[in-house]
Amino acid sequence: MTDLSLSSWRVFLAVPRAQQPDALRTWLDALPPEQPKEAWNAAFGEGSLFDAWTRSSLVQALHGQNARAITAHLQGRTGWRALEIGGGDGRLWTHADLAGPGTLVVIDPVAEAGERVRARIAAAGLTDVAVEFLCARVEDVLDEPVWHDLDVVVCSLTLHHLAGADAAERLAHGLLGPGKLEVLRTVHDALAADGLFLVNEADIHCDVQIPPGPLLAERLLDSYVRRCAGSLLHDIATRADADDDLRARWASITRHWCLEQLAYADVPLAERDVYELDVTRWLALFARAGLQVHDHAFTDASNLFHRYVLGRS
Ligand SMILES: C[S@@+](CC[C@H](N)C(=O)[O-])C[C@H]1O[C@@H](n2cnc3c(N)ncnc32)[C@H](O)[C@@H]1O
Repeated sequence: MTDLSLSSWRVFLAVPRAQQPDALRTWLDALPPEQPKEAWNAAFGEGSLFDAWTRSSLVQALHGQNARAITAHLQGRTGWRALEIGGGDGRLWTHADLAGPGTLVVIDPVAEAGERVRARIAAAGLTDVAVEFLCARVEDVLDEPVWHDLDVVVCSLTLHHLAGADAAERLAHGLLGPGKLEVLRTVHDALAADGLFLVNEADIHCDVQIPPGPLLAERLLDSYVRRCAGSLLHDIATRADADDDLRARWASITRHWCLEQLAYADVPLAERDVYELDVTRWLALFARAGLQVHDHAFTDASNLFHRYVLGRS
């Protein structure tokens, strides 16, 4: 394994699981030195790594399914209210076929995410869709007046940034404030009676219950290397619509945000990048929040991302 390719990844997969962390370190050491061009989740514009990420097959699949569900749900409604937790580059809204009037609330701690969603809505000519942006972490704005009468709420690949299943579990690990459950309960209470709530998350348990060490390394490997890196390397090798620039950005994501995730297996708990739950744990948490699960399934061939279609009843 001396290069970043599908064939090296296949060689890596053939290594016995217990030896894969060491094999991954050897693989990373063999790659030519290269700095990531930007921090992850920090830039969302055209040409950014995130822009490349939302053009990957993994993300296109889940955005496409979300957009179709949102389009169908809002069709024929006027004065609708939608809310997205974690806007990213706003790509989801280019796939949806919306008609105003309506209001889209976006919550994201990065100001550029709000600008990107606003730009996508403007580019679609939706002059009668108002975009309200809260530049904040969702857990810090659960008391804001935006949480009411929501026809649609989308939380795609975002809640895993919040450590702990609930506030009590956070406290047990020395962390203050709301956890995932408190956010889900806020969404539940703010949904319209027939409201649609879409959640996308990876199927991997690496939340605060899993301490730094070999089990966490195995979980991160399973998610980021066996599944996410595999899908991205497959895109690099096979996607006819990708040019060299896009392939280079996919390679950078594969290296710095997939293979190098292994380093997070040993950092202090509060410094982890992600705090994911697996499908069983998400389903249990939705039940505790009073949310009904209408449908759930993987959205990609790697069985990485799972999509949950939820409602109040
Ligand atoms: C992986 S991106 C997903 C973006 C988009 N939802 C998608 O599916 O493409 C995560 C987004 O959540 C934002 N984010 C991170 N922590 C957050 C938090 N605590 N509350 C709200 N948004 C957060 C990031 O800035 C980023 O825009």
